[in-house]
Amino acid sequence: MTSLHCSILLVFVFVFVFVFVPVPTAHAQIGLVLPLRKDSKTSQFYTTFQMGSHRATINAVADLGGEHLWLSCDGYTSATYAPIPCDSAKCEVAEGIGCIGCNGPARPGCSNNTCGAASGSPFMPYLTSSGFFEDTLSTKDRVELPEILFSCVDDDYLVGYAAGATGMAGLGRTGNAFHKIVSGRMNLPDRFSICPPASGIGKLTIGGGLPAKSEISGLLKSTPLIVNEFPGGSVAGRDPSHEYFIDVRSIKVAGEAVEVKESYFAIGKDRTGGTMISSVQNYTAMHTSILKPVARAFDKAAADMGMRSAAAVAPFRACYRAETVKRTAAGPEVPAIDLILPGNDVYWRISGANSMVEVDRKTMCLALVDAGSRPETSVVIGAHQLEENFLEFDVAASRLRFSSSLLVNNKSCSRL
Ligand SMILES: *[C@@H]1O[C@H](CO)[C@@H](O)[C@H](O)[C@H]1NC(C)=O
Ligand SMILES: *[C@@H]1O[C@H](CO)[C@@H](O)[C@H](O)[C@H]1NC(C)=O
Ligand SMILES: *[C@@H]1O[C@H](CO)[C@@H](O)[C@H](O)[C@H]1NC(C)=O
Repeated sequence: MTSLHCSILLVFVFVFVFVFVPVPTAHAQIGLVLPLRKDSKTSQFYTTFQMGSHRATINAVADLGGEHLWLSCDGYTSATYAPIPCDSAKCEVAEGIGCIGCNGPARPGCSNNTCGAASGSPFMPYLTSSGFFEDTLSTKDRVELPEILFSCVDDDYLVGYAAGATGMAGLGRTGNAFHKIVSGRMNLPDRFSICPPASGIGKLTIGGGLPAKSEISGLLKSTPLIVNEFPGGSVAGRDPSHEYFIDVRSIKVAGEAVEVKESYFAIGKDRTGGTMISSVQNYTAMHTSILKPVARAFDKAAADMGMRSAAAVAPFRACYRAETVKRTAAGPEVPAIDLILPGNDVYWRISGANSMVEVDRKTMCLALVDAGSRPETSVVIGAHQLEENFLEFDVAASRLRFSSSLLVNNKSCSRL
């Protein structure tokens, strides 16, 4: 046989294997379960899966505000890869932006007549324009999902993301979001959950819910996800309405309501304000007029617990001598910060390991940063505050189910 025949046969085998093997039923019920690991330098979380006929390993940073899956396609080769043509039904569904060409040689990420994609990063002041492509996603658990939509970016677009990341899994509220494509391919409802670990391996689950007899279902509270529809401006080319907002009404520290004007929490007419969740911002950032009274109340309650102040270490405002802070299995024992949500007794508790950061062996700081007096969003809950919290985004029903720190109940994301 000539090598041409061989490669045609090879293509046929790959197409056959990937397209015609149905998703095993067990996976269809629990959805796609992917590992989630922490990058300690950036506090970002990344997931790992395989793409294409060579099963190239992809480490994609999970971004709750990201529009779609994008990959660095430098060096990517696959026999099952295909560009989405312009003027195709798929391009229309993907809401492609124009038609992209490339001066060759043809390779993944470089083809003519390709459905245009605008890919964004919170670390870049511009969108990068590359086409939409699709290929088979597979996992070590032998799940194979053909025709998973992604766009290609150059290596240098990975600036700001965890070292070793080769892509970004966009988990925003968009039609092309990674969860939406995957759950659609599995005929499952559009929902996903993250359980980002502080150490060990957590989970990103797409499509499936918690098992009925899960140990943590009793810990979960639920709150509506708010859509911030007409953003006043866009940061780094991103549309804030892709992010998930929740309706935080007030904040309690050690059980006491902190005095903050309610209007700071609301989403204003210009669409600024509100509280959103970010998996790519390292620490929770608050409007100065919220952070100041929260830090003051925390400091007072901390002093009552015998914590002794230390000189502040930027960017943190309130720091303590580590030797005066009691340690527990759930992290440092410090005053709890509760984000109060609508409804009876619904709050997100920030405690222990989520509240504090060890800046050196002698100093521990309250892990909140100042977003200034005119931030676009009043409170951005950051990655450090998401660690060891289970969060289920039921996008179809617009609800968030969340656990607060699992460590408090002697559970963890790696043992879920
Ligand atoms: C795209 O078309 C142009 C003009 O016909 C051609 O020069 C170029 O090589 C093509 N690119 C690819 C990737 O095939
Ligand atoms: C948090 O992230 C910002 C922006 O990426 C970075 O400049 C800063 O150094 C990080 N903060 C800490 C304490 O690591
Ligand atoms: C916490 O959970 C682990 C593993 O499930 C168990 O071995 C340990 O006894 C538990 N600790 C407490 C204090 O309940």
